[in-house]
Amino acid sequence: MIEEFTDHHKDRPVLLTPGPLTTHEDVRRAAGVDWGSRDDDFTALTKQVTHQILAAAGADETIACVLMQGSGTFAVEAALRTFIPKRGGIIVGVNGAYGERMARLAERAGLKVTVVDHGYTEAIDPTRLVEALRKNPGYTHVGVTHCETSTGLLNPLPQIADAVHEAGARLIVDAMSTFGALDTLVNHPGVDAVVAASGKCLEGLPGVGIVLSPRMVLAGADGRCDSLSLDLADQFTHMESTGQWRFTPPTHVVAGLAAAMEIFEAEGGRTGRLRRYQANSQALAEAAAQSGLHPYLPQELQAPVIHTFFAPQTDDWSFPTLYALVKRRGFILYPGKLTKEETFRVGCIGRVTPDTMRDAVGAIGAGLAEMRLITTGAAR
Ligand SMILES: Cc1ncc(COP(=O)(O)O)c(C=O)c1O
Repeated sequence: MIEEFTDHHKDRPVLLTPGPLTTHEDVRRAAGVDWGSRDDDFTALTKQVTHQILAAAGADETIACVLMQGSGTFAVEAALRTFIPKRGGIIVGVNGAYGERMARLAERAGLKVTVVDHGYTEAIDPTRLVEALRKNPGYTHVGVTHCETSTGLLNPLPQIADAVHEAGARLIVDAMSTFGALDTLVNHPGVDAVVAASGKCLEGLPGVGIVLSPRMVLAGADGRCDSLSLDLADQFTHMESTGQWRFTPPTHVVAGLAAAMEIFEAEGGRTGRLRRYQANSQALAEAAAQSGLHPYLPQELQAPVIHTFFAPQTDDWSFPTLYALVKRRGFILYPGKLTKEETFRVGCIGRVTPDTMRDAVGAIGAGLAEMRLITTGAAR
């Protein structure tokens, strides 16, 4: 199993970032081929990838997969602009930077937006979302992130989806950092859209946004979007009728994603992938605890995706210095994304194993020791 996973570039550091992430060499090799964007072979490849993604999500035949050029944010923005009518409005449950971004995207789209702020260490509370819907009659949608990648916090999606559905509203899920590893409830009757991306838990390259949505919802959204390029209904109709993308597709990224989906299936699909990520997450948490690193989140809120750790509390702390020292030892860390506390993040998704995580914590410990910031196992 471990040998299988030693296929990343030996001369490049391992990415412990939540996308772009460390990929299988077959993915990078597949992306090294040129495809004609209007060629039948590429049309067939696009179709194959969308079917594989639907299967990966366990989607039933009522659900469609729409691919959209761009990073994840483009796909979230496309979903907000395509699915929410201008007369409607969205309650956004916020407990991190990506929830905040969703609210900003909705505001920029000219939608009515109400934020239900939970701070950065509380899970989204479905009852507070329902309460906000009650206070804002006419609002049609609720938006949440599944895993708040800014901290690694996992929100209770099943309870949120049930509550929103019972309240008669529709849910938009930013499942960017969970799709492919966790159940993102694409078949739930209350869900309008699950938004994901090629370069996260599917372990492809970055550059393709993925939106799973009921066919009925897409049909109902025809002509609604106020942006041509971000119109998911138009993108879907065009792809269904011609098999082609409306505008230049990221052909190499799509080819990489097709290879990534083969690897995903060979690993046992979502179950196999989650099993490895959970093992990675556990190995990371245990090694970090032994090294005296303090986690930002309590264990029960932690997703097996990315962990946030407190920086040592000293004026000598410098993330860029630690980053450089750890990079020299073969690992790329991620900076913290919090405004108040000094933190750093370590991702545990991508083509990595529990051994990678233990080695990474060893490199962090060595880096901190070189900075003379940790010698006694107390990082806080
Ligand atoms: C939960 C979540 N939403 C949205 C995004 C934004 O994606 P991008 O940076 O690809 O635009 C990310 C990126 O990591 C994310 O983790």
